[in-house]
Amino acid sequence: MLLNNKIINGEIMTIISVANQKGGVGKTTITLNLAHALCEKGYDVLVIDLDSQFNLSFGILGMDLLDYADKNIGVLLSKNSVKKDEVMESTVKVNAKLDLIPSHLQLSAVEKILVNAYAREMKLKNIIDAVKYNYDYILIDNAPSLGLFLINSLVASDYILIPCEPSYFSIAGVQLMLDTVEEINESNLNPNLKVMGFIFNKYTKQSKIPQERLEQLQELYDNIPVMGIIPRAVAVERAEHDGKSIFEYDENNPASAAFKELAEKVIKNVRK
Ligand SMILES: Nc1ncnc2c1ncn2[C@@H]1O[C@H](COP(=O)(O)OP(=O)(O)O)[C@@H](O)[C@H]1O
Ligand SMILES: [Mg+2]
Repeated sequence: MLLNNKIINGEIMTIISVANQKGGVGKTTITLNLAHALCEKGYDVLVIDLDSQFNLSFGILGMDLLDYADKNIGVLLSKNSVKKDEVMESTVKVNAKLDLIPSHLQLSAVEKILVNAYAREMKLKNIIDAVKYNYDYILIDNAPSLGLFLINSLVASDYILIPCEPSYFSIAGVQLMLDTVEEINESNLNPNLKVMGFIFNKYTKQSKIPQERLEQLQELYDNIPVMGIIPRAVAVERAEHDGKSIFEYDENNPASAAFKELAEKVIKNVRK
């Protein structure tokens, strides 16, 4: 039965974790800009900030984040069960097409409490299930860790996108994420979780190393596609600092085109 599902051009709503246990590879940047790119294509998007460092929430809300002490993902995750209304009340309308469930300072404490909770791996899935048919895409930004929140994110998701940057340790660290996905698949927590692909971020042609690292990644994992190559651009950082997407900040920047291309690939991938 697909009666309740939102269907646009034959595709059903899709939940994507943007995850890598390594910090600084671009998870937050990619979640934000991919979300905006999907909105520009006409889709309704929800982003969930599951990182206690709240970079995504702060990027979008600035100091207003302080107003969300009672309405954030941490509060929802601490409840035994959640109702649709409660989830909707914790959702901030960023623009006509984009909603955010923010993170909060208290989130790291919630993760510790959650360890002893009943069905602790299913908490985020239950929250998302309550509202998912309001959206076409739900993107989850994750913390740089392999903790219980990441498990929750992967249990709730249809796909994972793995950002990496052109460094040796970034490429080497990818295997840990793939092992985690395999564990989730095999444990039956979410047998349907799929790796959609890598996103190669901070690419430059100023030295040969990024190209070599990209080739290395593709050779090592020839069955996993590279969904996008995002150039290193100061504008990406500045946009984030100003709480804007790269499209609002500098539409003509090569990074804008790269994020649009990424969104198109994601949409195509989900449709097939
Ligand atoms: N393509 C890029 N070009 C330039 N700076 C980038 C790019 N992608 C990310 N950054 C910057 O790198 C830093 C880390 O990115 P971030 O998205 O916060 O990583 P993560 O969420 O994985 O920790 C941020 O300051 C961000 O603005
Ligand atoms: Mg981040």
